Amino acid sequence: MRVLILYFSGTGNTNYVARYLEKKLACFSVITDLISIEKFSPKECIDYDIMIIGFPVYAGAPPDFLRHYLDKLPTVYKKGIFLFCTRAMFTGQAINDVHKKLENKGYILLGISIIAMPGSDALPFMKRNSRYVRKALNRDYSNIKKINKFAHGIAFVIGEINRGKSIDSMRMRAPQRIPLISNLLQLLWAYLYKLAEKKIKPMFWVDDKCVQCKLCVEQCPSKNISLINNAISFGTHCYMCMRCINQCPKEAIQIGKGTVNKFRWKGPNGKFKPNI
Ligand SMILES: Cc1cc2nc3c(=O)[nH]c(=O)nc-3n(C[C@H](O)[C@H](O)[C@H](O)COP(=O)(O)O)c2cc1C
Ligand code: SF4
Ligand code: SF4
Repeated sequence: MRVLILYFSGTGNTNYVARYLEKKLACFSVITDLISIEKFSPKECIDYDIMIIGFPVYAGAPPDFLRHYLDKLPTVYKKGIFLFCTRAMFTGQAINDVHKKLENKGYILLGISIIAMPGSDALPFMKRNSRYVRKALNRDYSNIKKINKFAHGIAFVIGEINRGKSIDSMRMRAPQRIPLISNLLQLLWAYLYKLAEKKIKPMFWVDDKCVQCKLCVEQCPSKNISLINNAISFGTHCYMCMRCINQCPKEAIQIGKGTVNKFRWKGPNGKFKPNI
């Protein structure tokens, strides 16, 4: 049985969790291919029997980058999927949204997991010695209990399917829609985020530490950054993934003045390198 872990990660949290999951599954003799959606065409997913999809939560929803990808996934007849997301504190409808999209294409939900991680939206605005940053740096990421349990569940389901059980019989009940009050909170949350995003997107700029290495140009998932006449410029289709600001080796990318001399996050082990 071919199993794919497919993920998107802006700043390294989801990448870290996906790698952790890959290792845990290997302990249960479930061998997986681990690939970023940035390097894998949606059509190629057809070659896998089971897909495990991971993503960060943006504004209580999946990232637009992932949504557009899922729109291009082929329609299938009863293929099993597991979903996991990483978030700071509010998942909103993120899992439900992805589930709904995939269910309409014939995918069957077999399990989910939601993992709390440091907030990639907040970290580049934080002082290096702030409590939030110290907490993110000092946390032990070597034992993620929820993922241990998730891996165990995935291995069990795959074992049952291998023993002849139908995917239909292993189907997980659709994640419950959040209650009305939380739903209203979600709408308000998303609205405030959209307002903030609208304000923040035009505020990206590059200071004089930039050495024009073009790393940001190569790593931006939305191809929103270009080097024109020896100067870095930002377009209008940013996903707000926060990768460029955190990955620039000279810490030259800023959002207004709020990120100047502030912290930069390279994932839980400090080693996140996108697209490698
Ligand atoms: C634009 C943006 C919006 C975010 N919105 C939320 C949110 O609504 N709820 C939440 O709990 N975390 C939110 N976060 C935090 C991320 O979901 C979290 O840090 C995630 O682990 C980042 O994963 P990554 O490093 O793989 O990109 C947001 C982050 C960004 C950049
Ligand atoms: S990654 Fe940083 S130093 Fe390199 S081109 Fe972009 S802004 Fe300049
Ligand atoms: S410009 Fe920066 S924040 Fe926006 S999508 Fe590209 S890498 Fe992400």
